[in-house]
Amino acid sequence: MITSPLPLLRHAQTHGYAVPAFNVNHLETILAVMEAAQEERSPVILQTSEGAVRYAGMGILVAMAQAAAAGPLPAVLHLDHGKDLALVRQALQRGYTSVMIDASGHPFHENVRQTRQVTQWARAQGIAVEAEIGRIAGTEDAVTTKDAAAFLTDPEEAARFAHESGCDSLAVSIGTSHGAHKFAGDRHLDLERLEQIRKRVSLPLVLHGASGVREDLVRLAQRFGTDVGDMRGTLDEDVRAAIKLGICKVNIDTDLRLAFTAGLREAVAEHPNWFNPRKLFEPGRILMKEVAKQKMRLFGSSGKADELAPDGAG
Ligand code: G3H
Ligand code: 13P
Ligand code: ZN
Repeated sequence: MITSPLPLLRHAQTHGYAVPAFNVNHLETILAVMEAAQEERSPVILQTSEGAVRYAGMGILVAMAQAAAAGPLPAVLHLDHGKDLALVRQALQRGYTSVMIDASGHPFHENVRQTRQVTQWARAQGIAVEAEIGRIAGTEDAVTTKDAAAFLTDPEEAARFAHESGCDSLAVSIGTSHGAHKFAGDRHLDLERLEQIRKRVSLPLVLHGASGVREDLVRLAQRFGTDVGDMRGTLDEDVRAAIKLGICKVNIDTDLRLAFTAGLREAVAEHPNWFNPRKLFEPGRILMKEVAKQKMRLFGSSGKADELAPDGAG
């Protein structure tokens, strides 16, 4: 059942685990994630980026998520990295129970202004708002390691932002980045910074860019032709430590992309006689489900759905 994230995040905060949030773009990912959540008895967040909305259309994504999440398991439909206020507003009217306003690329006051605006719209409809302070870079940002340090969240600024913006949860930058090439050198996160943020901010904190980029999946994808250079993800031990220090929602996209690509490329290469998309997509879907289940165990959310009522109440 599509529900509000707030009781889920509060439960996670109280019990020291994180709710997994998976980026979904199409049917196969939605099915894989929901099957994983059912089997692991994990609450789950289905999130769509603006790119996913451009790809599939908001109406189709909402309908697929609602149908796939029908039943008692608590699930959230979230807009990830909303930068276009008109699109955020549309999501608030179309069935999303949570939106992210990402104005983190703007100066502090503009970030506060846009976040306050979205919070005001969302409050009226009981919808939750995630915002971001500091910047979580992506491959597309082409930042140098030196620049990346300047993107990290300042703990004092985070406290001020949480207070002034009125958001319900806060994405912080502690060394992760989006995509499959996260680290040039040291792969560890700035956990001391996270501790300082946690001391000053009581809101549920969100970790973006948390994909681990599993080596066996990289090798499988490479064996069947993927060529995207030296991929490096966030270490499982650091994700676990970050959750212990107060991260309550963890975002995963790249690991599902990699799983799907590896399965699809193997199917295409090994079965030249297959031309039924259902058959071609199935290995990727199975691998995505396996990855999603592994994340639920890593984040400690497995089994937690049974401690929550369908409407998310703990
Ligand atoms: O936050 C970034 C996600 O990986 C979404 O990526 O905009 O290509 O859908 P996308
Ligand atoms: P990854 O690229 O590490 O999967 O991060 C996804 C994300 O943060 C989506 O908002
Ligand atoms: Zn993100």
